[in-house]
Amino acid sequence: MNDFPRQHKETGQMGGPHFSDAMRRTLAHYTHMRREEPVSHDPRSGRWQVFRYADGLRVMQEAETFSNDMSEFMPSVEELVAFQKGNFQNMDMPRHRVLRGLVSQAFTPRFVESLEPRIGEVTRRLLDAAEERGDTIDIVSDLAHPLPVTVIAEVMGLPREDHGLFRKWAYALLVDNGVDAIRSEEGVAAMAPSIREMNDYLGSHVRRHRARSGTGLIHDLIRAEADGRRLDDQEIVGFLGLMLIAGFLTTSALLGNAVLCLDEHPKDTAELRKDPGLLPSAIEEVLRYRSPLIWLDRRAARDTRLSGHTVPQGALVSVALVSTARDPEAFPDPDTFDIARRPNRHLSFGKGAHVCLGAPLARLEARVALTELLTRYPDFAVSTTQPPQFHDPEGLQAPSRLPLRVTRIAGNPIR
Ligand code: HEM
Repeated sequence: MNDFPRQHKETGQMGGPHFSDAMRRTLAHYTHMRREEPVSHDPRSGRWQVFRYADGLRVMQEAETFSNDMSEFMPSVEELVAFQKGNFQNMDMPRHRVLRGLVSQAFTPRFVESLEPRIGEVTRRLLDAAEERGDTIDIVSDLAHPLPVTVIAEVMGLPREDHGLFRKWAYALLVDNGVDAIRSEEGVAAMAPSIREMNDYLGSHVRRHRARSGTGLIHDLIRAEADGRRLDDQEIVGFLGLMLIAGFLTTSALLGNAVLCLDEHPKDTAELRKDPGLLPSAIEEVLRYRSPLIWLDRRAARDTRLSGHTVPQGALVSVALVSTARDPEAFPDPDTFDIARRPNRHLSFGKGAHVCLGAPLARLEARVALTELLTRYPDFAVSTTQPPQFHDPEGLQAPSRLPLRVTRIAGNPIR
């Protein structure tokens, strides 16, 4: 447990200067577990925890052994059952393939690329507004939260004034009630009003779209067809809910984490300013070094051996994504942040049939937002007087508050 990751190369601090004490303890715990107990049963949560990269990869790729159908662990509450109908992240073959295939007809790489100019406009508008308030902006509340919400909402054709609702639902499902809430009666009871509200809201939105023809993602989802099969309203609602929940806080986390990494590594930041072509590989390294999601869950569909243990059928199996990303067997010098790391086969977007469908959008938003920050501000630094705050490292690796002092280019000063 005393085995902290090695010293930060520029500052000499352990584990990098912007890790909370809780995250440092978590990282040290993972180092210990990778060596001593790479697969371990946690009696408190009932999880079989998987700490090594190779085991994690196997769990994600071997879909017949490790199922995504988690309904056995979830209380059967009406709201949750309705929402799960279109949530293909919790489905196995063949339903998963059919639904993901239908949705992929609308959510294409070309569609995502077409969003780039708008993402740039929204980023600039948000930073302009933040600068009105002075030379310290909060990267989380001023940019990393509103940017992905605005993009997802515009893609779905949802009104801007409802953004507060989306934030409320994402927090209710992912943050406010703890990481295991979805598997407990009390947790689901606490979430149920938000799930119901989200179902009703998105349901009436989809029905409005069905009633008139038009263009856009929801119309494309309504029209998508494979083997004579189309998506019904509840399936579209489930996918839209999944996008709102899966795509918001994770992308916010990536943006906040990227700023923390840049602040910790001024030489890399200088290199990125000189050569923005390095940004895509730097973003992959941010995803590895600070994986937004901590756990990725599966259900063992049969008894299976994993690093010398027999994991029984029906068990909850949780891959510690943050730990797989620091496994020296997969990443040489894993505690060093290296923007040129190649290969960089991190698991932060998952792998296999369920690999993140929104990864191209998250990468695009990160590239556009970071390009804007680097070109707009010749200098920025995490505030020393208002230090960052962080989410609970059991749920999400991300700052929840990140004040940043910024200097605007000459001739265009910050008020
Ligand atoms: C940095 C940001 C993101 C991270 C770290 C992330 C992470 C992940 C991970 C780990 C999975 C795999 C889950 C599994 O194997 O069970 C996943 C699936 C998914 N993600 Fe993301 N995600 C991000 C952004 C997004 C965005 C922006 C969207 C959409 C707007 C999105 C939509 C989805 C969907 C629909 C799935 C389910 C795919 C399936 O089951 O076939 N994600 N994501």
